[in-house]
Amino acid sequence: MDRRAFLKTAGAGTLLATSGMVWTQNSARALPLLPMTDLTGGIDARVPLALKNAIHDFGNGAGSETFGINHNYLGPVLRVKQGQTLPFDVSNTIDDVTTLHWHGLHIPGDVDGGPHQEIEPGHTWSPDLPIVQNASMNWFHSHMHGKTSHQTYKGLAGIMLIEDDASLSADLPKTYGVDDFTLILQDKTFDAAGRMSYVVNAELFEEGFIGDTLVVNGAIAPVMQSVPTGLVRLRILNACNARFLSLSMATGPVTVIASDGGFLSSSVETDTLFMSPGERYEILVDMNQADANSLIVDFGAPEGVLGFLTGLVRPDTGRKTALTLSRNAQQKGFSGSMPNALATMAPPDRSQATRTRSFKLTMDGGGEQFAALAASWGNVCGNVNMGGLSGMGINGQPMNMDRIDEQVRKGDTEIWRISVDDELHPFHIHGCSFRILSQEDAPPPAYAQGWKDMVHVQGGWSEVMMRFDYEAPEETPYMYHCHILEHEDCGMMGQFTVT
Ligand code: C2O
Ligand code: CU
Ligand code: CU
Repeated sequence: MDRRAFLKTAGAGTLLATSGMVWTQNSARALPLLPMTDLTGGIDARVPLALKNAIHDFGNGAGSETFGINHNYLGPVLRVKQGQTLPFDVSNTIDDVTTLHWHGLHIPGDVDGGPHQEIEPGHTWSPDLPIVQNASMNWFHSHMHGKTSHQTYKGLAGIMLIEDDASLSADLPKTYGVDDFTLILQDKTFDAAGRMSYVVNAELFEEGFIGDTLVVNGAIAPVMQSVPTGLVRLRILNACNARFLSLSMATGPVTVIASDGGFLSSSVETDTLFMSPGERYEILVDMNQADANSLIVDFGAPEGVLGFLTGLVRPDTGRKTALTLSRNAQQKGFSGSMPNALATMAPPDRSQATRTRSFKLTMDGGGEQFAALAASWGNVCGNVNMGGLSGMGINGQPMNMDRIDEQVRKGDTEIWRISVDDELHPFHIHGCSFRILSQEDAPPPAYAQGWKDMVHVQGGWSEVMMRFDYEAPEETPYMYHCHILEHEDCGMMGQFTVT
């Protein structure tokens, strides 16, 4: 396999106004395994997480300037267990102020790592995280207001896998790096020299950053992995800034077993799994018979008139092979069968809710904010004269760090309804997992009917129901926001307390 043989193609991606070169390759390289820090066996000292500047080769031979957490790009997979308290020392050496938020964790506001918990360069933040919730795939990323998009894109993100007694004894593949893999999917743009770049312009402001190149665990796709005979588990995070990903298998349906907040009640088969930025899903791939199968990511047709024309000529133009699993028939792996029941969960019961709140995401005049954001990497909210428009915001107001938007009573179950006038947005709430009652005025797909912390919003109402069990005081409130990171940075975010 010639790892250095690359084709610089003027493919569909160059039709995008923002795009640089599209990097592809003659043959797939090995899937990089995200390094695992396994804490399930016990913790005897504080656990360092060092946020740092680094140089990383995405596989095209060029050294890209990146951020990493203990590593050169992205962070470790932290494997932890329900019931543990995790003593992290998060040190910041990136020469810019940052924060580290634990996305998906049911933890109090004062350790949530939101925009109020800034870590100055040269400083260390030492939260103790009580892990109360069930087995689930969570992640952590920068939440520095106005800089989340930039810092996360450069690499300040990692994975936290929570295990519990049930997940540890479940009849599922769980040998990391053998039949159990964690995949971070991202879209990137690379310049003519092959260095990762972040370019946004006026045409794309409404969507946020859209890259033309698919990257899996920090390597330009496609990547390949040899696996044993049996079932293989893929735990997948969409860590794109703004791109929704449509996932499918080259052969057969996708078998989904878990969503953001843990196992589904039973496995769900679907032809396509549609993932917003911030979402996590676990899937199983049956390698008992097949010699190979691939995870396909559809980027969709390129933008604009040229994209439309390209789509007519080559309807498969957006389909990219992310990962090919190739079976080593000599090696015996997980021999169990596809699971039926996975978790017990009653359907959500609206009558439990004591209060309903409504949120409307707005985009008015967001383009100016976006352009300023792209130019400065700074927090542009408030620095841009919006000429009377509200700009990107929620319920007519852009995010204000000094304003508490909602106050929730601890222990209350609530329904939150979210709507938007224009295109698709992914909405996220801190400090809880919720159930989706409706998504875009319809029942959510079966794979999104379990525990979630992300919901899609477009036209009509999306409704979620949850209980808030942890405290978030005024000094360290929780956030709710659009998870298109550029929208979040531009003010499509609000704050709430739980007391
Ligand atoms: Cu993944 Cu408030 O974020
Ligand atoms: Cu979060
Ligand atoms: Cu948005």
